[in-house]
Amino acid sequence: MLLYTFLGWLDIKSCLLFLSVCLLLADILLNRNPKNFPPGPWPLPLLGNVFTGVDYKAIDKLAAEYGSVFSLRWGREKMVFVSGYKRVKEALVDQGEIFADRPITPLFHKVFKGLGLGLSSGYLWKKQRRFAVTHLKHFGEGKKTLESFIQQECGFVCEAIREEHGHPFNPHFTLNNAVANIICSLVFGHRFDYNDENFQRILRLTARTFNLIASTRAQLYNAFPGVLKYLPGPHQTIFSNYAKVTGFIREEIEKHKADWDPSDPRDFIDAYFGEIGNRKDDTEAGFNMENLVICCLDFFEAGTETTSTTLRWGLLYMIKYPEIQKKVQGEIDSVIGQGRQPSMDDRASMPYTDAVIHEIMRIGNIVPLNVAHMTNKDTTLGGYFLPKGTTVITNFTSVLCDKKEWETAETFNPRHFLDSNGKFFKRESFIPFSAGRRVCLGEQLARMELFLFFTSLLQRFSFSPPPGEEPKLEIQEGFTLCPQPFQICASPR
Ligand code: HEM
Repeated sequence: MLLYTFLGWLDIKSCLLFLSVCLLLADILLNRNPKNFPPGPWPLPLLGNVFTGVDYKAIDKLAAEYGSVFSLRWGREKMVFVSGYKRVKEALVDQGEIFADRPITPLFHKVFKGLGLGLSSGYLWKKQRRFAVTHLKHFGEGKKTLESFIQQECGFVCEAIREEHGHPFNPHFTLNNAVANIICSLVFGHRFDYNDENFQRILRLTARTFNLIASTRAQLYNAFPGVLKYLPGPHQTIFSNYAKVTGFIREEIEKHKADWDPSDPRDFIDAYFGEIGNRKDDTEAGFNMENLVICCLDFFEAGTETTSTTLRWGLLYMIKYPEIQKKVQGEIDSVIGQGRQPSMDDRASMPYTDAVIHEIMRIGNIVPLNVAHMTNKDTTLGGYFLPKGTTVITNFTSVLCDKKEWETAETFNPRHFLDSNGKFFKRESFIPFSAGRRVCLGEQLARMELFLFFTSLLQRFSFSPPPGEEPKLEIQEGFTLCPQPFQICASPR
């Protein structure tokens, strides 16, 4: 009896041992790196480097140890990280076509399904992007221009801030609503009032989703989607938030269907309806209703949080450095005065303000690890071999805060963008909008929004911290780097 139990125990033990050896062998065989693949920390069997954080600070530390091109493995998912201006440019610009695809990231794929503008690849992406760029360029031609939409919104946001009567308030959702309204005018053909509860709810869901996406627990879903899809966690909140935001977009599209006049497109949705008809023989280009929903979602997501977060950093830096705020206001007073609204024509005469906005973007570094790219051919980077299908993450922190590129990289210093005569000058390593084929599609729009909102706010108000409080430049990490929630006082000028 004793012998029988012992043999039974030995059998279970042997089976477990045999199974472990098989798993280890399978892990080694399946995850073996090709020759000359970028180095990286030793991965654990099966799990890989899941215990290595992939936030921008951890990536900087690993780059110092393994070099400007290194790799990590999460589960079976391999990622190559690229740091420093020279290498990032080598990937995104010099080999722009090869690095132009997006990897399939399970967390996003469930929602975006490889459609739309931001997460699609290949022919479909090229066609969708070209259509969106053309629409942005010609939007409002002969009618109301994007600039006048933004100027109108600047008026609304200043009015909303005036209603705070100089008391401390959190500017987050007022700015978010103002910036989102520009995208809504472009895509839906109308804006939303700042008191619209439903729209405020959508904005809050979007901001929350951006924070959750970067959390380690949500990122784990990318490594083990098959198991985690059955478990609760932040990924489930992300999916349900996206379902509500896409529901809101679908409603807008339905309303457009009801009164669409093909001869008079009012906005992106109307223009897209027309393109669905024009392109019905080119199914690969993907002009259909599902793609329209995802394109609208892309515009809404990419165009709201980014610009409004930059504006929030802008206000925070202005209360942290009141002498810089005064200098910007001095330039506004001498070039624009108080009698009219700022316009884009003023920018060329306002080098200091332009430099301050650039410096806010540089040090704000709001998309620190860019959006992931993927190689669509075998290639080399920094001398290492990257097979077709490699996920590539470019570390923008290492470029925007590179001590070799910026005189005082860690300090807020508008002189980074001014020559000795006080004239504005461009810096090659200023790449908050990325570079190459997938450079931000909304860069020109974002630059216009930042200039007009920022100058309008400082034209109308002087900003200060609540009495007795010292402004803190602390970061709230998410997909974008936001300031921690803060209160501000706005005194009319
Ligand atoms: C301060 C504001 C903004 C910043 C810092 C920013 C930054 C970025 C970055 C880093 C990317 C990824 C580029 C890459 O993959 O290499 C991107 C992509 C994108 N952005 Fe922006 N963005 C801003 C505003 C906007 C606005 C206002 C729009 C609205 C039109 C917009 C629309 C997009 C779209 C659609 C993409 C995807 C492009 C593609 O994959 O082809 N962005 N942006």
